Amino acid sequence: MPQFGSNAQVFVVGATGGIGFGFVRHLLADANVGRVFATYRDRDRAAELFALQAEAGDRLVCLACDPTIEANVVAAIERIAERTDRLHAIVNCVGMLHEDSPTLPVSPEKSLRHIDRDRLLRYFEVNSVPTVLLAKHVQNLLKHPETSTFATISAKVGSIGDNRLGGWYGYRASKAALNMLVRNVAIELGRTRPNAIVVALHPGTTDTGLSQPFQSNVAPEKLFSIDRTVTQLLDAIAGLTKADSGEFFSWDGTRLPW
Ligand SMILES: NC(=O)c1ccc[n+]([C@@H]2O[C@H](COP(=O)([O-])OP(=O)(O)OC[C@H]3O[C@@H](n4cnc5c(N)ncnc54)[C@H](OP(=O)(O)O)[C@@H]3O)[C@@H](O)[C@H]2O)c1
Repeated sequence: MPQFGSNAQVFVVGATGGIGFGFVRHLLADANVGRVFATYRDRDRAAELFALQAEAGDRLVCLACDPTIEANVVAAIERIAERTDRLHAIVNCVGMLHEDSPTLPVSPEKSLRHIDRDRLLRYFEVNSVPTVLLAKHVQNLLKHPETSTFATISAKVGSIGDNRLGGWYGYRASKAALNMLVRNVAIELGRTRPNAIVVALHPGTTDTGLSQPFQSNVAPEKLFSIDRTVTQLLDAIAGLTKADSGEFFSWDGTRLPW
């Protein structure tokens, strides 16, 4: 299925993550994609992305950006605006379920006993805030007559209606907050950028560093490869229409409850 019109300009945020890097690879393989702008946080951990850039040349622009920091988001989008006046897709692949950190290691809470204020806030900082910062600053690049998609990778466990198991307080709540922010952005851009489609996407459990510690509980057929997930999400994006803006979709294109 064709995903983009010719010379599409696509912005992938979180391009050193499993799914984010998968998006960059798949997008560069699509002849309709003119250029991919891809963010990384730490150059030392972006070797694969830079190796791809060496092959792709000018079709891949790597941008240093920690999307939890507004000034970084502004600087990255300024660099994009030097190259193009329009984006056709933005895919935010940033998210955190566990974090190895000497100062604040984070892992999902199984019970109220494990709730810790700073760790709870860290989930919101990484999982909820970047999307709305991106939306705030990318608006000028969505002011064009062609269709554009602003997709954020959320998670089904962020669905309040679907939550029957509990646990993972911070991850679930920060993804639920993300979903609300996506809905709000869709409503505002629906008024100001009528050609933009804004959605939250659930990728399905995917074999990345994020899911790695929890994969033993997942049936093998329910653990997707990165290639499968990205193919499915690109198909889901290709199938979106304006009427879908503000909704939450699963990897198979079905709608999820909020
Ligand atoms: N894998 C799954 O089974 C699964 C299921 C449901 C939803 N998701 C969602 O899918 C998205 C992509 O996840 P993934 O599976 O590709 O995980 P991943 O390989 O761990 O990638 C996570 C991405 O988020 C960025 N990130 C993590 N912590 C960050 C922080 N503290 N500050 C700024 N950026 C940070 C990473 O940047 P660095 O590379 O710089 O660390 C990377 O780009 C996430 O939103 C995740 O919640 C994944």
